Order: sequence, then structure tokens, then C-alpha cells
Amino acid sequence: MASRWNARYARMDNTPTPAYVLTRYAHLLPTEGAALDLASGLGGNALFLADCGLSAHAWDISATAIAGLQIRASELKLRVTTEVRDVISQPPEPGSFAVIVVSRFLARPLFPALIAALCPGGVLFYQTFVVGCTDGPDNPDYLLTPGELLLRTEGLRIRAFEDSGRCGRQEQGLRQESCIVAQKLL
Ligand SMILES: C[S@@+](CC[C@H](N)C(=O)[O-])C[C@H]1O[C@@H](n2cnc3c(N)ncnc32)[C@H](O)[C@@H]1O
Repeated sequence: MASRWNARYARMDNTPTPAYVLTRYAHLLPTEGAALDLASGLGGNALFLADCGLSAHAWDISATAIAGLQIRASELKLRVTTEVRDVISQPPEPGSFAVIVVSRFLARPLFPALIAALCPGGVLFYQTFVVGCTDGPDNPDYLLTPGELLLRTEGLRIRAFEDSGRCGRQEQGLRQESCIVAQKLL
């Protein structure tokens, strides 16, 4: 798994960009606290979180991606605490983050641990590909079904949710992916 991702990142020279769910709903971020970009890749989300004044952490199984993120963070003079970590065998500890962001990564069994890892009042930002997308993976294990993020975040307060499908003007809106912002109440 790690070697496949390392090989992919070694071929990439991408500037990391934050996920739509994070930039669109940035006003739902707290003003302080620990924020995790889980399965961060090159860490576009982590850099954005650090730039928002949060204590940013980025974890990914790919050492190559994490090395790229460290270089970028130092170029931008942003502080991001990084870790090469398998998030499935080593999920975050309960009550450890005020914000968790996951983009373009889906491991369904991880949702209970993500919810447990939020502090009281903590917020989960999640965005990934949907069944029928043309840009994403083919394996249905990595594709959300319609409305699935609502089911996976049951017990949290939904602050924002998009699952536009093929409704309306196809050339506008988030179409390949669905996203949610959900808060753990006190
Ligand atoms: C499609 S990329 C998305 C990266 C980033 N979140 C983004 O939106 O650009 C999926 C990421 O998941 C990471 N990944 C896959 N399995 C993982 C695991 N078990 N633990 C941690 N990271 C993992 C890969 O290394 C890769 O960086």
C-alpha cells in the first residue's frame, strides 16, 4: 500500500490544494485547537489549517508525500506536525482533535474512530468521490453511495452537506464528490 502511494507521489510535482469542503466552509472552523489532515497526501488541507491559525497535523502512509509536505510547509513558513502513519491500524486517539479533515480517502470502518477522536464541539470535514464519478477510483469500496455521509456521521450535528448528484446544472457545483461538515456537540 505505502509503496504504491510513494511511487505515485514520486511522479507528481503538484502544488497541494485544500479540499473544496474546507475552503467553502472555512467559516465553520474554530479559531484555535488541534486540527488533523488525515490521509493528507501532500497536505493541502494541513497547510490551509495552519494558515488559519490552527495547530495543524498531517498523517499519511506515504513517506514521500509527507516529505513533500514538509518541504512545502517550510517554504511557506507554516508549522505542520507530520507523521508517516497507517491511519487504519493507528487511528487518532479519542477526544484528541478539534478538527479532522479527510479528503479523497474512504475507509468505512474508520468512521466510529473519527467521531470518537473529535473533542466536544469538534468538527469533521469530509469530502470524497461518489458512485458514478468519472474522475475518481473504480473500486466501489472507495466510492460513496447517495446520502452515505449522513449515515456515517449519525450522532453528529450536520452543519453542511452537499450531494448534488445530477440535479440541475451539471457544469456547476460539486459533482464528482459529496461532502459534509458535522459537529460533535458538547
Ligand atoms: C487520493 S489521496 C488523497 C490525498 C489528500 N487527502 C488529498 O485530498 O489530496 C489518498 C491518500 O491516502 C493515503 N493513504 C492510503 N491508505 C492509507 C492508510 N492506511 N493510512 C494513511 N494514509 C493512507 C495515500 O498515501 C494517499 O496520500
